[in-house]
Amino acid sequence: MHTIIEPFRIKSVEPLKKTTVQERERLLAQCGYNLFLLAASDILIDLLTDSGTSAMSTNQWAAMMRGDESYAGSESFYRLRDTVQKLTGFRHVIPTHQGRAAERILFTVMCKPGHTVPNNTHFDTTRANIEFAGAEALDLPLPAAADTQVRLPFKGDLDLDALEQLIAGRGPERIPLVLVTVTNNSDGGQPVSMANLEAVRRITHQHGIPFYLDACRFAENAWFIREREPGYSHMSPRQIAMKMFSLADGCTFSAKKDAFANIGGFLCTNDDMLAKQEKDLLILTEGFPTYGGLAGRDLEAIAAGIEEVLDPDYLEYRIASTGYLGRHIADAGVPIVEPPGAHAIYIDAGRMLPHIPRQQYPAQSLAIELYRHAGIRGVEIGSVMFGAHARNELLRLAIPRRVYTQSHIDYVVESILEVNARKDGLRGCEIVEEPAFLRHFTCRFRPL
Ligand code: F0G
Repeated sequence: MHTIIEPFRIKSVEPLKKTTVQERERLLAQCGYNLFLLAASDILIDLLTDSGTSAMSTNQWAAMMRGDESYAGSESFYRLRDTVQKLTGFRHVIPTHQGRAAERILFTVMCKPGHTVPNNTHFDTTRANIEFAGAEALDLPLPAAADTQVRLPFKGDLDLDALEQLIAGRGPERIPLVLVTVTNNSDGGQPVSMANLEAVRRITHQHGIPFYLDACRFAENAWFIREREPGYSHMSPRQIAMKMFSLADGCTFSAKKDAFANIGGFLCTNDDMLAKQEKDLLILTEGFPTYGGLAGRDLEAIAAGIEEVLDPDYLEYRIASTGYLGRHIADAGVPIVEPPGAHAIYIDAGRMLPHIPRQQYPAQSLAIELYRHAGIRGVEIGSVMFGAHARNELLRLAIPRRVYTQSHIDYVVESILEVNARKDGLRGCEIVEEPAFLRHFTCRFRPL
């Protein structure tokens, strides 16, 4: 077996700026120890998110040059629509400026007060958009997945017993749709099995409930199915992805993840009536249905990206390189959400720093220290972000696609292990200023 290499070479580079510990201490004090408020140019390795941060290919840049910027009937739209239809089989493809715009339109049309929308785990914008429509967003993850150390091949699955109980208890008329997020971002980036998707389809269709995928990391999920689920090793990622989509009645999609685009998304459905209402709403705030708030060149980048991401060499490298980071820190004693997912490694800061109580935000304290020590930015996913609803105190290190090389990741590993070696000296922090909602973006902290 040879080393799994980056299956690309680099044509255009962005310089990284180094800063000293003293400079970073000053910058931290200035931004109230909230890493969202740092200038990106002051960060050496930015693992805040894998969303919109991908490096595009020569093929995508070339496609952008032929972007058709016509207001109506753009050729670029037809190219995107045909690509998406070939992959997903959905009748209607509605472009949007990003995933959350697709969510807002879908839930505005489908949800009312008194409704409940289950999901394996809702992403924060998904939950917020469901609640904004007056409905309840309910997470139904596997109970076993709450333990970060438990290794299951498909830890992102939806709890089928809980779904059946919910339908029996509330009645199908109060459940306008069931969502499944692939991969399950908010629960550690864990994959969902084909068997689970098939079961969700069977249960929902028995009760006449539509089934939608939140599909932004569909290709990474398909790769895990190929690797881990019996019966799929001979199938291509494309064939597996096609099967995943064939089970659903529609999807929301953020093209900022697996489509390697810097902006964009879409909403798909097989329901003609819904599609009509959705397009009317789209025109109100996003734009005409052949551009949906995007430039023609963005539609081209997405169409090209959706094809590229299904390359087995790319997916093998992607999952191996994230696993490399995860294994190197976990095997040296840093607790992570096990097993590693595809787009991010989540350090279990609650477990790593048991001397820092929840109320003093262990994952935020670790985020601050990792930036102070090494110029690396991760994001807290714990009590700062979710308050009392947080299941764990996690620091997410999301890996932008095709952006960092293995030596960058080796530097990240070294830095984390250095911080881990003196973890007992780390202190917590407190919030000194916070807005009324979504506080993690703008609140200010004080180290204790
Ligand atoms: N669904 C999931 C599972 C997501 O991870 C995201 C975004 C969205 C929907 C919304 O898409 O950003 O295009 O509006 N996740 C990013 C992240 C922001 O950092 O995990 P969007």
